[in-house]
Amino acid sequence: YNVLFVASEAIPYMKTGGLADVVGSLPRYYDKEKYDVRIILPKYACMDPEIARQLRFVCHFYVHLNWRKQYAGIFETEYKGIHYYFVDNEYYFAGAQPYNNIYEDVEKFAYFSKAVLQALPYIDFAPDIIHCHDWQTGLVPVFLKTQFGDDNYYAGIRTVYSIHNMKFQGRWQLKAVMDITGLPEQIFNDRELEAYGEANYLKGGIVYSDVVTTVSPTYAHDITTAEGGEGLGGLMYARRDSLYGIVNGIDYQEYNPETDPYIAKKFNEKQMLSGKKANKEALQKEMGLPADPDVLLIGMVSRMTDQKGFDLVSYMMDEILSTLNVQIVVLGTGEDRYQDMFRFFQNKYPDKLCAHIGYSEERAHRIYASCDAFLMPSMFEPCGLSQMMAMRYATVPIVRETGGLKDTVEAYNEYEHTGTGFSFANYNAHEMLAVIKYAFDIFQNRKSEWNDIMKRDMESDFSWNTSAEQYEKIYDSLCES
Ligand code: ADP
Ligand code: GLC
Repeated sequence: YNVLFVASEAIPYMKTGGLADVVGSLPRYYDKEKYDVRIILPKYACMDPEIARQLRFVCHFYVHLNWRKQYAGIFETEYKGIHYYFVDNEYYFAGAQPYNNIYEDVEKFAYFSKAVLQALPYIDFAPDIIHCHDWQTGLVPVFLKTQFGDDNYYAGIRTVYSIHNMKFQGRWQLKAVMDITGLPEQIFNDRELEAYGEANYLKGGIVYSDVVTTVSPTYAHDITTAEGGEGLGGLMYARRDSLYGIVNGIDYQEYNPETDPYIAKKFNEKQMLSGKKANKEALQKEMGLPADPDVLLIGMVSRMTDQKGFDLVSYMMDEILSTLNVQIVVLGTGEDRYQDMFRFFQNKYPDKLCAHIGYSEERAHRIYASCDAFLMPSMFEPCGLSQMMAMRYATVPIVRETGGLKDTVEAYNEYEHTGTGFSFANYNAHEMLAVIKYAFDIFQNRKSEWNDIMKRDMESDFSWNTSAEQYEKIYDSLCES
């Protein structure tokens, strides 16, 4: 079968979060004999110019977006055996970042979605399945069914829609979206494109796709409820029979302690303890912290938004840093209030906290590889990749039991000696503190138990293989029906 991934970001071309990791790595793990999976992305002006120069021009045409007639160029390239296409338009994709304000973005991604469909005959790739990701591509299935349905070329195409984050829905004024898209007015009703008086791209994608997936079984359940559904819980509940929760994997070539070029000392399971020790010392030096092997070194790598639980961390920071023999290293960018919070505590505890406000793949790898523990107390988490990356490098996760964190981290059970990390249930700072203290106690006083947890982390399987098979089954059932 031919499958086309449509998304707003994918490694190695554009990344703001885990979506890019997933879209850029999952296609490599399908059975190549049976599936030709390709990816189409916007050609952003803010892409690395070195990479952009390597793309080959394929063709151009005009996209009809209601009364607008806009240029679209198509470029292509191959990366690690996967064929990538890019839609070029210097007006829409000019920003310094892939996303701007919502008003610009709704038009930008309406344009992109339409361009993708119009591109198919030109690129000579006839997909059996179009697999869309997140709100930015929600209109692909909507355009397909309302504007391309009569055309034979498009008639048999099935659609899969993957939700990576229910919180971002692409919502904007009804009238404006009608004008931008030229979609028929009668579909802007509360069973289709409208929610709470606004047009809603995510809802459109959900309603118009043949199958909807999300990135972990627990999140798949959470979004069918009023608490977790971000306003669309009822809709998701109604769709629950064709809603699949498939947990993400991580790229085992990219995140591999044995071959990682960014870390101070490469290691495998046999050299786990010596490898971790060397990396820990190197990271402490890099971050300007005392190189103490006995301190519990806790890492965080994250977008700085309220989703990630920074409010809990901020509330307990004084207590953690003043009462426990720990160091905290942070890498992230995002909202000012969190960036400032970390700067403040770094000033107050320069020997205990080092926050690097910025984005760096290489430093992210070193944090995953070098810390003793990785903290991720998310308010909600569709899947989460960071905790799996940490575990791959024998760094013990401390997480809140929500969404994919619940599905990928097994809580330590000191009686049965099972589990891969530490977790707490409620979004409550004192619960978080209690579990950090518990982890600290085991790290400090029961070393062999701690080492066994590390070992189980390294032995866990977070590769894409099983999940890719689950997606294949969905494709098969759609194509055969
Ligand atoms: P989300 O997609 O919600 O941000 P995930 O855990 O799924 O969360 O994925 C986050 C991805 O982004 C991981 O690959 C993580 O390493 C990366 N990441 C986040 N912040 C940074 C940063 N400041 N520098 C480098 N990588 C980062
Ligand atoms: C979203 C979610 C994150 C998930 C990622 C990839 O950004 O916030 O939990 O891992 O998408 O699916």
